[in-house]
Amino acid sequence: MTSIPNEWPNFHGMPDDDALTASRPRGQKLAPWIWWDGEVRESAAPNVHYYANALHYGTAVFEGIRCYPTDRGPGLVRLREHLERMLLSARIYGMKVPFDVDALARGAIEVTRRNGIQNGYLRPLAYFGSGPIDLKPKRECPVNVFIAVRELGTFLGPDALRKGIRLMVSSWRRPHHTVLPTMAKASGHYANSVLAAHEAMDRGFDDAILLNQDGTVSCATGHNVFFVKAGTLFTNDEASSIVPGITRDCVLSIARDNNVPVQIKAFTREELLRADEVFLTGTAAEVTPVRELDSASFATGKGTLGALFQRAYLRAVTGRDEKHADWLTAVA
Ligand SMILES: Cc1ncc(COP(=O)(O)O)c(C=O)c1O
Repeated sequence: MTSIPNEWPNFHGMPDDDALTASRPRGQKLAPWIWWDGEVRESAAPNVHYYANALHYGTAVFEGIRCYPTDRGPGLVRLREHLERMLLSARIYGMKVPFDVDALARGAIEVTRRNGIQNGYLRPLAYFGSGPIDLKPKRECPVNVFIAVRELGTFLGPDALRKGIRLMVSSWRRPHHTVLPTMAKASGHYANSVLAAHEAMDRGFDDAILLNQDGTVSCATGHNVFFVKAGTLFTNDEASSIVPGITRDCVLSIARDNNVPVQIKAFTREELLRADEVFLTGTAAEVTPVRELDSASFATGKGTLGALFQRAYLRAVTGRDEKHADWLTAVA
């Protein structure tokens, strides 16, 4: 079924497993340069007004884009798709972003290069600035846009990729797509994720799964959910109030490359508890195995499909898979 050998824990064709994580930054140091409204500036210089509408009402839209070291220098993962998604999120909130995808892509490349980043995370963000204290920011509030850069290694902890993480089902539900446009990445939506993430942290878990209003599974706090049952890969779609992730799309494409059967459908917490394997995907989380969900435990590591997807994904985003070379934009 699979064309990629899925030995574990060695990443064939990757730096060896220790180098993979050991060479990554441990912290999230901010980079000295930021792209702000069309120019690269010192990141300490610009300020957000205390009456920015976004600060009060969550009216910002944003993206998270990874930068990885490759043999041809740093590469940005699926840059255009991320920027297109940000402009679609902006459209829904009535925000006219004064830059198109090409201008934002040039800005992203320029600011990454200027900061000399290898393992990094770009945060493009467009927000409604200062204006009247009403709820109609599209009438008078300016729209400002920045692309901030920071270092980023393994997001869910240094051992997460290798050993997997522990999740709980949150007592908070994810807002339904009739309540908020849940496919959009808008700041206000993440108050819900913060509540669930704090609840998980306070109870000693690494992250949380949020259910929908109908009781089916939506997503983790900032990641999509996959599970494997009897060799079939399952995930849900936008009808489950998710952000349909770009990493999710990469994994589905790797599944096609490897003839792994896939079913995209709404699924219940019980189906997840009965799964053979569970893993999360996201720009920050990459492909992170889940070793426990509440009282259930799952296979991780050697021989799992999750390991295959993780390895194939990391190969592709570090420029080691010609088939997906178009996922990367060179910074050099
Ligand atoms: C709620 C939510 N779900 C899923 C994802 C994963 O999306 P992506 O793979 O595009 O980063 C994210 C992160 O952007 C998110 O915030």
